[in-house]
Amino acid sequence: MAGNTNVQGEDVKKLDVVSNELFINMLVSSYTTCMLVSEENDEIIKVGQEHKGKYIVCFDPLDGSSNIDCLASIGSIFAIYRYICREGVCDDKEVLQPGNQIVAAGYALYGSATMMVLSLGPGSGVNGFMLDPAIGEFVLTEPNMTIPEKGKIYSINEGYSYLWDETITEYVRRKKDPKVGKPYGARYVGSMVADVHRTLKYGGIFMYPANKESPNGKLRLLYECNPMAFIITEAGGLATTGKMPILDIVPEKIHQRAPCILGSKKDVQELLDLVK
Ligand code: AHM
Ligand code: MG
Repeated sequence: MAGNTNVQGEDVKKLDVVSNELFINMLVSSYTTCMLVSEENDEIIKVGQEHKGKYIVCFDPLDGSSNIDCLASIGSIFAIYRYICREGVCDDKEVLQPGNQIVAAGYALYGSATMMVLSLGPGSGVNGFMLDPAIGEFVLTEPNMTIPEKGKIYSINEGYSYLWDETITEYVRRKKDPKVGKPYGARYVGSMVADVHRTLKYGGIFMYPANKESPNGKLRLLYECNPMAFIITEAGGLATTGKMPILDIVPEKIHQRAPCILGSKKDVQELLDLVK
């Protein structure tokens, strides 16, 4: 950012604003969507009649924006729902579907390579596509991705430990206690896509739990927690708030937050056992 105009006098926009405009333009001009929910827009974006299609897309066009200036990995996240007119009534509430109604979800990670990870619906698994810039195409390089049953890494912002509840405190303590088992490694990029992708590849657990100041954590249900929960579940892992499966939450507001704990089956189950 060098002010609002560059040397040619053109508008200079921040990367997250540019990516939001790209997402909206591509989705509208695809003639497949009717309502869009973006992290960057307070209100639902309604697609005009002439471009209208039958899908709702909820997305975070560029997540992890605090990582932009230091060049760490960032990503895009999305979930797609079918727009259904119930009993002949079509209203905005259709964007508030629970994650278990997702018809497809995915993310793109802009890291040492660009990779798109997709799930095309319940039971269809997860596939990874790497961008080959030479041909400008995403190539299927990781078919049928599955998350290891158990990992060796825990991922949480430990700076907030003074705000954690007893369960999270005890869980993280156990992960570091050699008397309980071989201590886990700690990794936290602070970019959800990077942290979730690592968890999918290597196993372990990623947590952005509720805490004493934020009873619903920080991450947004519609375009951060749900798509990631869907992918991790499709890959054989678990995704929970600590109290219920993330995908079963019935949303009340488009930008609502939810606690997000996801990862390898055994690692997440251990936390759920501790909750009990
Ligand atoms: P953002 O949507 O403003 O970029 O915030 C979301 C990001 C996630 O990518 C990441 O998991 C989280 O914020 C990190 O938050 P914190 O710095 O509180 O640990
Ligand atoms: Mg975000």
